Amino acid sequence: MRSLFFSLTLLVTVVAAPMSVAQKIQMSIDVSKPGAKVDRNLFGQFAEHLGHGIYEGIWVGPDSKIPNTRGIRNDVVAALKALKVPNVRWPGGCFADEYHWRKGVGPERPVTLNPNWGGVIEPNTFGTHEFMDFLDQIGAEAYLSVNLGSGTPQEAAEWLEYLTTAQQTALARERSANGHPAPYKVAYLGLGNESWDCGGNMTPDYYLDRMKLFSHFVRNFNPDQQPEKAKNQQMLKIAVGPGGAESRWTDWTEAIMKAWQAHTWSWDIDGLSLHSYTVVKWPPAHASVGFGETEYAQILKSTLEMKDLVEKHSAIMDRYDPQKKVALVVDEWGGWYAPFPGSNPGFLVQQNSLRDAVLAALNLNIFARHADRVRMANIAQMINVLQAMILTNEEKMVLTPTYYVYKMYVPFQDATFVPVAFDAGTFTHDGVTLPRIDAVAAKDKAGKLWLAVTNVDPSQSAEIELALAGKTVKSAAGETLSAPKVDSVNTFDAPNTVVPNPISAKAHDGKLTLKLEPKSVTVVAVE
Ligand code: AHR
Repeated sequence: MRSLFFSLTLLVTVVAAPMSVAQKIQMSIDVSKPGAKVDRNLFGQFAEHLGHGIYEGIWVGPDSKIPNTRGIRNDVVAALKALKVPNVRWPGGCFADEYHWRKGVGPERPVTLNPNWGGVIEPNTFGTHEFMDFLDQIGAEAYLSVNLGSGTPQEAAEWLEYLTTAQQTALARERSANGHPAPYKVAYLGLGNESWDCGGNMTPDYYLDRMKLFSHFVRNFNPDQQPEKAKNQQMLKIAVGPGGAESRWTDWTEAIMKAWQAHTWSWDIDGLSLHSYTVVKWPPAHASVGFGETEYAQILKSTLEMKDLVEKHSAIMDRYDPQKKVALVVDEWGGWYAPFPGSNPGFLVQQNSLRDAVLAALNLNIFARHADRVRMANIAQMINVLQAMILTNEEKMVLTPTYYVYKMYVPFQDATFVPVAFDAGTFTHDGVTLPRIDAVAAKDKAGKLWLAVTNVDPSQSAEIELALAGKTVKSAAGETLSAPKVDSVNTFDAPNTVVPNPISAKAHDGKLTLKLEPKSVTVVAVE
């Protein structure tokens, strides 16, 4: 089935769209007005025990013919290293609230079930040590979601002791016997997942009662993560937040933030999660391949609702936390489409097209513009599930259009936001009106200025006339990502249909013009 899936997608990538008259857009970057830091954690990933996200996607086992290091595929590691992945959220998702960590450590691993996702076998061969090894190989931090739904505070507390204590407790000795004498670093801790739904269908008050127990008792003992030892190394705790814009969700945010405002020494949170998928309507019915400009416009219209959602919940948070101590953590987001025909619907298999590249850029831009409050985000999901970076099939691997957007945006990690002024304009397709252009800019630590521009319009190219407020612009150079059609995809047989190409421009008479393809994402360094 999986090879049929990828050969079908070949059919949709061959015809080039005609270039039409370019729209002229004046754009000005003002480096004298720096904004918030675009936290590198905004480029976080999410890897759940779901379909082929972990097994096959990351883990093939040490005896596999697929080249691997201690069971973890080398091709996937190399690809992820290039993204400078800041953190990976694991083991779920809904799976996390049914996960019992003890089954995933030691030489004997019981075979269990994955009731949420297809009811398949969970071999538990990828557990705590394998996850931490994977993080080590790609250079990312751990964002562990503890089981607050069907687990106990004691179980989660023991997991953290097992992972982080340097003292010779029974759990530390067990960790050592399992191959890791040194304590692990756990940077982020999720206190449950969607506790209003798959995580236990709790009311805000019931969740708060449980969350306070976990916040208090689930301690990190790593000596290097203690407040007196190092600044900014302490484990940050992230509470379950809203899953939409309706009053059910605003009530949830109100309740958690109100409680937080009155919190005592015995519990605290550093982040509130927000989950929001681009679906138009549940259950997801839009196809991930073989669609046209109408579906392109519908999906992008829907994805832009992220802005209002972030602003709505930020406004509530501002009332209880004007100093913005608690981050809004968008730790599940991305396009969620109909299950690929013939796939297990529980595996959330979908292809990833040029539309997803544009969708990713638009969301990353929203997060960057709200970087004072939104300090972490995790796209769902990293490999083979939903809006993935990477697709694998046995020994084959292909990088998706979304992967390339993440690679192009690497310079934005920890850069400082700077405002860009432009008239976005609009275009209308089949009754759906969208902004034509989107752009964000940021200055990196070395002082280099970066501009990301998305031309959303599927048929009109754009000419960006770029100026630097109070300065002379000389040149711009970087990469641009486009493809013949809105549903162009990369496949195992044709992996280079949607790949970035170099772009550059030099100023003439003090004016710099960047010519952008229709439906494109461009990132350039500006001199
Ligand atoms: O990402 C798939 C699922 O979507 C996650 O497990 C859950 O948290 C959300 O509903």
